[in-house]
Formats: sequence, C-alpha cells, structure tokens
Amino acid sequence: MTRLIYQHAAAAATALRRTMVLLLLLLMFSLSLFPSVTAECPDRCMCQYGGVDCYKLKLDRIPDRIPPDTKELLLFGNKIENIETGVFNNLTSLKHLDLDDNKIQKLDFVQFKGLTRLNVLSLSYNKIRDIEPKSFTHLTELKTLTLDYNEISYLKNGVFANLSKLQALSLDKNKIENIETGVFNNLTSLQYLFLERNQIHKLDLEMFKGLIKLDILDLSHNMIRNIPPGIFDSLTSLSLLKLDHNPLRCDCNNLLFVNALKKNYPQLDVFGDYDSLCLFPVEMSEKSLKELTENDFQCTPPDVIVVPENKTVLVGEELQLSCKAVGDPEPLITWAKDDIYLELGQRVQVFQNNTLIISKVERTDGGQYKCVATNYLGRKSFESMVNINGLVEDGYNTMFGITQFFIFINIILVICVFYTLFYRNVSASLIV
Ligand SMILES: *[C@@H]1O[C@H](CO)[C@@H](O)[C@H](O)[C@H]1NC(C)=O
Ligand SMILES: *[C@@H]1O[C@H](CO)[C@@H](O)[C@H](O)[C@H]1NC(C)=O
Ligand SMILES: *[C@@H]1O[C@H](CO)[C@@H](O)[C@H](O)[C@H]1NC(C)=O
Ligand SMILES: *[C@@H]1O[C@H](CO)[C@@H](O)[C@H](O)[C@H]1NC(C)=O
Ligand SMILES: *[C@@H]1O[C@H](CO)[C@@H](O)[C@H](O)[C@H]1NC(C)=O
Repeated sequence: MTRLIYQHAAAAATALRRTMVLLLLLLMFSLSLFPSVTAECPDRCMCQYGGVDCYKLKLDRIPDRIPPDTKELLLFGNKIENIETGVFNNLTSLKHLDLDDNKIQKLDFVQFKGLTRLNVLSLSYNKIRDIEPKSFTHLTELKTLTLDYNEISYLKNGVFANLSKLQALSLDKNKIENIETGVFNNLTSLQYLFLERNQIHKLDLEMFKGLIKLDILDLSHNMIRNIPPGIFDSLTSLSLLKLDHNPLRCDCNNLLFVNALKKNYPQLDVFGDYDSLCLFPVEMSEKSLKELTENDFQCTPPDVIVVPENKTVLVGEELQLSCKAVGDPEPLITWAKDDIYLELGQRVQVFQNNTLIISKVERTDGGQYKCVATNYLGRKSFESMVNINGLVEDGYNTMFGITQFFIFINIILVICVFYTLFYRNVSASLIV
C-alpha cells in the first residue's frame, strides 16, 4: 500500500518536473524571441500585434527596420517631406498607412510600390501640390484614400488609374480648379467622393461617368455657376448631392439641369438638407434651385444675328468668317464645311468670338461653309459660299521660272558656241 502510494507520488513528481521543464523551455523560447522582436522595431517606435506606431516623433524620413509583416503603420504628426523610392517595397502585408500631418509635397509613380495589400492610405494635412499620373497604380486593393487639406490644384487623367476597388476618395479643402475629364472614370467601386471647399468652376458632362456605385457626391463650397444637364444621369446609386455654397446661376441652363435631375428624383430629395441657392442674377439670388420653374424666365432657342458672308479669297490669303447667335441658354456655335464638321488645327482656328479663321488659304478650302448655333431648345444654321481665286499657283510660278531660266541659259550657250566658232574661223582666215 505504502509502496503504491510512494509510486504514485514519484510518478506525480516526475510529471510535475516534466511540466516545469516544459514551461521553462517555453519561457526560454519566448525570451529568446523577445529581443529579436524589439530589434526589428524602428528607433523610438512601438511595435506590437502587427502595428508599428511612430507618430509625433519629429521624424524627417520614413524610419528603417520596419518589420516586413507590419499590418498597420502610423506615421502621422511627423516632419516627413519625402517618401524615398523603395522604402515600402518590403511591406507587402501592410493594410493601413497613416501619413497625415506631415510635409509631403509630391506623389509619384514609385513611392508606394510594394503596398499591394494596402486598404487605407491617409495623406491629409500635408503640402501636396502635385500628384503624378499612376502614383497609386500599384495599390490595387486600396479602399480608402484621403487627401484632405493639401494644395492640389490640378487632377490629371490617370491619377487614380487602377483603383478599381476604391470606395472612398476624399479631396476636401484643396485648391482644385481643373479636373481632366476622365479622372474618375474607372472608379467603379467608388461610393463616396468628397470635393468640398475647392475652386472647381467648371463641370464636364462626362466627368462622373461610370461611377455606378456612387452614393454621396459633395461639391459644396466651390465656384460652380453652371451645371450641364444630364451630368448626374449615370449615377444610379446617388443618394446625396451637395451643391450648396456655389455661385449658381438661376437661368435656363440650370433649369434644364434641375429638370433632368427631376426625372430620377421627382422630389429632388437628393439635395437632402442642403438647399442649393442661386446667387445670380441679383433678382433671383437666394432662390432655391429646387423651386426653379419655366415661369421664372424666358428660355429661347438660338437665333443667328451675324451671318457669315459669301466671300472670294486669293490663294495664300486669310479667310475670316464671323457668326454670332443669341438665345437662352447661350447657344454653342460650331462650323461645318460641305456638311462635315471642320477639323480644327494650326491653320484652321475658331476663336472665342466664334469667328472662323483659315490662314494661308489653299485651293481645296473653297466650298460651302455653315455656322451652326445650338442650345437645348433648338438649332439654327447659316450658310456661306467661299470661292478661292488665283489661277497660277505658287508652285507653277516657280516651275515656270526655272524653265524660262534654262531656256535663257541654253540660248546664251548656243550664242557663245556660234560666236567662238565664227571668231576662230575669222582669225584662221586672217592668219592664212
Ligand atoms: C527589403 O528586404 C531585402 C531582403 O530581405 C533587404 O535587402 C532590403 O534592405 C529591404 N528593404 C528595405 C527598404 O527595408
Ligand atoms: C494595374 O493593375 C494590374 C493588376 O491588377 C497590373 O497588372 C498593372 O500593371 C497595373 N497597371 C499599372 C499601370 O501599374
Ligand atoms: C480605364 O480602364 C480601361 C480598361 O480597364 C483602360 O483602358 C483605361 O485606360 C482606363 N482609364 C483610366 C483613365 O484609367
Ligand atoms: C450667298 O450666296 C447665296 C447664293 O449662292 C445666296 O443665296 C445667299 O443669300 C448669299 N448670302 C449672303 C450673306 O449674301
Ligand atoms: C475675333 O477674334 C479674332 C482673334 O482674336 C480676331 O482676329 C477677329 O477680328 C475677331 N472677329 C470679330 C468679328 O470680332
């Protein structure tokens, strides 16, 4: 019995010893791991659970020795000016990169290479002026991009190329004045587009084409006067459109925009609580865009008041044709020759005053010219005939000159030959 108890006790002791040894080994193992983890952390940063926190450390560059398996990298509130080429090359697990509140000025093609898993990129409160096309092209998993409070003035085509998973794009409080037409075209997952407090004054009919998932579009606090009717027609998911605080014009053009919008949102509830008021003309200032009706002004189809004249022009001269039209909305004027729209270039130009000027007229410029004035209520056109005169063209002239010159030279030669022969004969006869 005692022996049995003793045996049990011994077995228990052995088991205990084994467990102890195992625990000790485990402890030693984890201890041995510990220094290597700390060694993989950049100076003064904190590294834990896949996160690297280096915020507000007055860093002037992206730190070295960021562990390659980092998932979240916080660098906000530093003094970083440059993102050196290749610094993020190894961070293929990174999902969240926060560079808010630094001094970054320029974004280009190579800086974010390697961040193929990145979901969130935050670059607000920097000094970014320039974003080169394809700057984010490697970030094919990106869902959120914030660029608020920077100094961006121009959005070039291709800037957001390849961001087909992007859901939120924030560009509030920049200096954006120009947006090239195709900039947003491939952002087929985009739900939120914030462009508040910029200097946008012109919207292009095609600007938001293809944004089929767009839910909120914020264009408030800009310089927009006119909105092309139908511009938001393809935004089939839109639930909020913020246009407040723009110097909108209550005219026939914007009435047509409102009417086009009413087709999709009969109550215009898409404006939400953000009433868009007109600023111009003075007698309609403070009028709500929602309340515009046909009775507020007289919209008229185009009428051509200065018609192009019939003309005869010499080859090599300049051809000028003027055309002026009135109407509300203001008509758009285009030119056609022999019923084909004119291709403009260096030689063939149409100026702001709608005057067509062809410099150094050629024979083929003759024909029927047409000025076409169009607005949403109609179209009117006027024709003029242009004759090109000048029978002997420049090329001919020179050819003719050259032929004459050769004939002249030949005659001289013949005379010389005759004269020489005659002189020899005469002198020979004299000697004899
Ligand atoms: C990336 O990893 C390679 C090899 O693992 C190393 O040589 C290189 O210095 C690392 N680059 C950066 C920027 O950390
Ligand atoms: C766009 O992303 C694809 C992968 O989705 C890649 O093959 C292609 O090179 C990227 N385009 C550019 C211009 O980087
Ligand atoms: C949009 O995507 C198409 C093909 O996917 C590509 O050909 C085109 O260049 C892209 N456009 C822009 C502006 O990125
Ligand atoms: C130009 O000539 C055509 C006939 O060729 C004439 O019908 C038209 O009225 C003329 N236009 C002007 C502005 O004189
Ligand atoms: C229109 O503008 C062009 C270039 O500025 C000028 O040469 C032309 O005389 C103008 N035409 C009219 C009718 O004002």
